[in-house]
Amino acid sequence: MPALRSRAPAAAAGVLAVVLAGALPVVSAAPAQARTSCVPPPVAHRGASASAPENTRPAFRKALAGGVRNLEMDVHFSSDNVPVVIHDHTVTRTTNGTGAVAGLDVAALRRLDAGSWFGKAYRGTRVPVLREVLQDGKRYRARYFVELKVRPSPLQLQNLLAAFGGLDVARRVVVTSFDAAALADVRTAAPHLRTALVDTGFRPSASVLENGNAYLPPYRSVNAARARQWRSAGVEVFPWVVQRQRDWSRLAADRVSGTITDAPVKYLRWARARCS
Ligand code: G3P
Ligand code: CA
Repeated sequence: MPALRSRAPAAAAGVLAVVLAGALPVVSAAPAQARTSCVPPPVAHRGASASAPENTRPAFRKALAGGVRNLEMDVHFSSDNVPVVIHDHTVTRTTNGTGAVAGLDVAALRRLDAGSWFGKAYRGTRVPVLREVLQDGKRYRARYFVELKVRPSPLQLQNLLAAFGGLDVARRVVVTSFDAAALADVRTAAPHLRTALVDTGFRPSASVLENGNAYLPPYRSVNAARARQWRSAGVEVFPWVVQRQRDWSRLAADRVSGTITDAPVKYLRWARARCS
């Protein structure tokens, strides 16, 4: 298991045990990220989505090739219940098609062009199925924040868990969602998987912990006092979506556990300059 970024939970032994037992699998990559460890590691939001079409294999590969080891992605289900990586409920914004993701089977989704909207160089890029994104990260031992955009049906949940199978990723996956009920379903079906609530504002530790021992608040709702409170309760905090250097600095000072950004490779360059 690669080294976790060091933290100093100033809590009672019981809480410390929870932190150690449940520490999220978020890592700094070696050797490329070794000189970045004075700040939280970046989490690539929809891949390196500032420089490639979001939630596509090129976006995730660009992050991985740039030394990023933590990937965030959004999951919907096709009409035939396959987990696919796309943000919106419809394909309209990010492909050359129209209509609801849930209204198209995976073969139809795979015929769409999910790259041209971003740039000609990405013409022909496909909507990925979750499994292939996880496979691409395997040799990097990447960590995945897999966000459920819908509450899965029992069959969809079964297919989600099957997508993780055989890749040795269970310890490197955090299933996230704005929907607490979706996370509860995941924990019931797969208690070994980590879950984390994505939120739209501040939530105290006790409420956060009902959904998992990690938390994804909007970065503007994070400050030093709140970060300290979450940390002392054993909650790891991953603010989203942080694009500006001055906010990266502030959140590093607040000692968050990772910083979700559209520009994770740029973040690493900034981190290397700052940590060397
Ligand atoms: O990880 C949190 C963030 O991704 C939630 O917002 O809309 O980008 O999925 P959204
Ligand atoms: Ca997301």
